[in-house]
Amino acid sequence: MSIVYKEKEEQFHLHTRNTSYIIEVLEGRYPVHTYWGRKLRFTDRTGLVDLREVCSFSPNPLDSNKTLSFDTMPREYPDYGRSDYQSPALSITDSSGSHLIDPVYDSFRIEEGRSLPQGMPGCRLTADDGCDTLVLTLRDSILDLYIDLYYSVSEEYDVIIRRTEIRNCGNKPVTLNKVLSSTVDFYGDSDFEVMNLYGAWTRERQVSRIPIGRSGHLVDSKRGASSHEQNPFLALLRPETDEFSGDVYSMSLVYSGSFMAEAAVNSYGKTRMQIGLQEIDFQWQLEPSGSFTTPEALLVFSPDGLNGMSGIYHRLFRERLCPAPWSKRERPVLMNNWEATYFDFNEEKIKALIDEGHSLGMELFVLDDGWFGRRDSDASGLGDWFTNLQKLPGGLKSLSDYAHRKGMQFGLWFEPEMISPDSDLYRSHPDWCLHVPGRYRSEGRNQLVLDMGRQEIQDYLYCSIAAILSENGIDYVKWDMNRNITEAGSAALPSERQKETSHRYILGLYSLMDRLVNEFPEILFESCSGGGGRFDPGMLYYMPQTWTSDNTDSYERLFIQWGTSYLYPPVTMGAHVSEVPNHQVKRITPIETRGNAAMSANLGYELDLMKLSSEEREKVAKQVEFYKKIRRTIQFGDFIRLLPPSSDRGTAWMTVSDDGAEVLVFYFGHLLRPNDLGCRLKLRSLNTDRLYMTEDGEKYYGSELMYAGISLPPLDCDFDSRLIRLQAI
Ligand code: GLA
Repeated sequence: MSIVYKEKEEQFHLHTRNTSYIIEVLEGRYPVHTYWGRKLRFTDRTGLVDLREVCSFSPNPLDSNKTLSFDTMPREYPDYGRSDYQSPALSITDSSGSHLIDPVYDSFRIEEGRSLPQGMPGCRLTADDGCDTLVLTLRDSILDLYIDLYYSVSEEYDVIIRRTEIRNCGNKPVTLNKVLSSTVDFYGDSDFEVMNLYGAWTRERQVSRIPIGRSGHLVDSKRGASSHEQNPFLALLRPETDEFSGDVYSMSLVYSGSFMAEAAVNSYGKTRMQIGLQEIDFQWQLEPSGSFTTPEALLVFSPDGLNGMSGIYHRLFRERLCPAPWSKRERPVLMNNWEATYFDFNEEKIKALIDEGHSLGMELFVLDDGWFGRRDSDASGLGDWFTNLQKLPGGLKSLSDYAHRKGMQFGLWFEPEMISPDSDLYRSHPDWCLHVPGRYRSEGRNQLVLDMGRQEIQDYLYCSIAAILSENGIDYVKWDMNRNITEAGSAALPSERQKETSHRYILGLYSLMDRLVNEFPEILFESCSGGGGRFDPGMLYYMPQTWTSDNTDSYERLFIQWGTSYLYPPVTMGAHVSEVPNHQVKRITPIETRGNAAMSANLGYELDLMKLSSEEREKVAKQVEFYKKIRRTIQFGDFIRLLPPSSDRGTAWMTVSDDGAEVLVFYFGHLLRPNDLGCRLKLRSLNTDRLYMTEDGEKYYGSELMYAGISLPPLDCDFDSRLIRLQAI
């Protein structure tokens, strides 16, 4: 049983395969967090938290117990204003203008399986995954406001999923200013380092790891999207934790909009770790009888270092977050015309690219930006989702038929959430974009953002997109979003609800994506936001892969794919071979290395195939052929990070197929060094007594590969790389 209630001790014990999480109700009133970590066997002990009397700067909220202060108490869901001076999980304003609330333990129930937060994405775990849900209910008796804390606990997937629901059973409205999904207090424990994934456009998901110190660490996005700048994820690690051993406590938010995650230590050495909706961008009017639910937060603990944590997220995301039809389905080798043509294409050019891609073994052609409206540059056309017949006189259908006749699939780019001021849609609906009356409408890439919370806008987009998909034999959609939100106001909301606009935007987006992906379950959807500006679990629930970055340089990609892999498995990452000099950084790298970097995830090509030399053509054809042989392992095997891109020995990672029979080792050199002995790489996760054979017929025992390591052949030039395939015999 994954959830145990100990009545006498008033404790709730949550157990996953390797983890325990314990909550105790203090004084019959306050649920406190007492333990999270390695799985425990437990005697019948109460008072797990030893609260002592502290000075009057930590006031006492209960007359009956002067040792008790919220300042020292590790609360399961902290509020603000009554002696808890850390960042709260909940902040409200009631109809009198007061922000006080006293959520006291009311009741609990245990449900079989789990339900998803209404209208939002989440992990599709069921009772068959050893998943049950504890709902702890707190109540403020003055406001008659209920707070339900949901904990879904999966034995099999080793995860605890939290969310919060607020129900207003009083007769006056309450304003919610902040409602987080998850918060954990580590009582008297501040021996941590904080890790997060930061970046920028073309530099997504770099790794930051620093000691927690004594000030707070805020990781957030206020951009209306999860963002290139920060991923909705935070981890606390022990100073000694590395890729293979040591404790990691992490939270990942299943949400695609503005968010916040925070870790801070208070004066008693109590560390608070939290994640949820961004507060600056949020407010919600909760009417009597109304309820509000947060997105869900995934809590993963690993005693086996960062690879241990990633392994848990990878399996969960592949098998229980991404849409079920795609959880085991191989992804096609694609070619995309963006870096080959940008906006400068016509029917003839596209057909020639399809011919060439087909002859090289590619399986899906993706027509990128520029096929619709009057879209000859990024200055116009967004919102006008009809084919540009001047550019493509035969229409989309003739192109998709052309690809299909060759046995290739045909895909299309959309940027549904945007509107160009120079578009028919804007001319007929100037109030459909996010804006504040009388204020300037800031443009980004010459475009404005549609008010996705409005039903009529969702319906317009659904009808236009669904018509194109069903009439033109579309097999794949790239769903882009190329700017962040400003002036987040809605023409459809009253003044007291204007601060709901950003969250309503995300709910509207989720509703639209839900309709489309359910209507077209056979279409492979890939999300994108100027590359990886919205690479988050919320998007993956609808669309099983994401364009990792607009940066296609194979050296830069090592950093980006390395960082991305902390949470997201290779099958969720789009990775393309592009031309040299690279369009973003002008670097020249060998075609083999560009291939190896892209083959580490979902392989694609994004370059003018017509310009390839015959030698390059041959190499590309071989890459595609080889990738088809190994892609099951790449896309569904266990990915392990070995050597970080910051190391001066090069970058390395490996993948082991789920049956352990195939092992792929990727090694990327950086700059060649004179007088260098080369690199010996120790592999992981092999069977010590099994024999493995390379493509050249060399045999090794697993123990040799893991403990003595494998000698990598010397590299021939800067940015050279090696891909070694081993098969168990
Ligand atoms: C974004 C995407 C690119 C490409 C362009 C088209 O930048 O990330 O891959 O689709 O838009 O405008």
